Amino acid sequence: MGQMPLPEKFLDMAGDEAANVVRECKARLGKKVVILGHHYQRDEIIEFADFTGDSLRLSEIAAEQSAKYIVFCGVHFMAESADILASEDQMVFLPDMDAGCSMADMAEIDDVEVCWEFLEKNLKNFKDIVPVTYVNSSANIKAFVGRNGGYCCTSSNCEQVLKKIWDKNKNAKILFLPDQHLGRNTAFKMGVPLNMMAFWKAGKEGGGGKLAQLQKSPVILWNGSCCVHQKFNVEQIKAVRKAAKDMKIIVHPECCFDVVQAADYNGSTSQIIKIVEESEPGSQWAIGTESSLVNRLRDQLEPKGIYVQTLGGVPRQCSTMYRNDIQHLAWIMDLIYRLDAGEKVEMYNRVVVDDEIKADAKLALRRMLEKS
Ligand code: 13P
Repeated sequence: MGQMPLPEKFLDMAGDEAANVVRECKARLGKKVVILGHHYQRDEIIEFADFTGDSLRLSEIAAEQSAKYIVFCGVHFMAESADILASEDQMVFLPDMDAGCSMADMAEIDDVEVCWEFLEKNLKNFKDIVPVTYVNSSANIKAFVGRNGGYCCTSSNCEQVLKKIWDKNKNAKILFLPDQHLGRNTAFKMGVPLNMMAFWKAGKEGGGGKLAQLQKSPVILWNGSCCVHQKFNVEQIKAVRKAAKDMKIIVHPECCFDVVQAADYNGSTSQIIKIVEESEPGSQWAIGTESSLVNRLRDQLEPKGIYVQTLGGVPRQCSTMYRNDIQHLAWIMDLIYRLDAGEKVEMYNRVVVDDEIKADAKLALRRMLEKS
């Protein structure tokens, strides 16, 4: 479902006025509402977030909340995860239904099922395959993974999840969906050489590669990627190394292999924030991730004498995250407020995952969240 045009009242509303609507509705709803904000959200949204975090932290927070209304300021798959983990009497809303994720769209359920059937038919060691999906995936994919004994993971726990699987079965073969880069970077860090990773291209017969490679590889990577993190490259890193020898480079593991190898550090959004925040005054950082996060960190840390810039110097915005603006948040908060007051309002932007999908998807998310 796409986003319906905002009612004119909200469309034309000045930022200050919209912020007042959010403030008022939030105050009136009190503990009945909780606003979650991913680190990539605009400042005007983060200002109202009760909790901010990376994908893992926000999934955990969503699972812990008792508020009746959860407003998820992030992208669609995050709101779906919150609905999967929420109790039956909670409702999850996304301020703009067009806030999607192009990477999540790169793994479609029909294509994943074709791949699975092929592997089942052709691989001698099919029983050892464990599907793992990055949380940046649709509920359908999480459900597929859940019902086939697999796990969800995020960029901050991917290594722990793979370790959990290989501790249980050292011959386990991971089908990693949908982000090839997170899968490749993590598996390599854990000792899997690049030539022992197979690649599956949806739409190509047999995934477009050799059966022998699929047979021997402990990791099969899906052909997905993030359009924001793809923009960082090794040339930008070389330019930083040349121009500013003391500048450290930290990137998100959704960046490609060469970039992660050339950087000094890599980590999830929360890990990036922590490492940079805890650095000594006088430190200089070039960061390879989305620019709302980088710019906020730059403004917060400048007074402490920590210098922050985007790797490559060009702001890299996640255009779908950016769709959640203060006018959309005001509109949804007003809608929730009126709904709660018993007014007969048409319900918009509630994210509801089908019960059957939810049950299976929950297995994959729960296996990820279980402390083992
Ligand atoms: P984390 O916040 O978990 O690092 O994920 C960011 C993200 O979704 C980038 O696409």
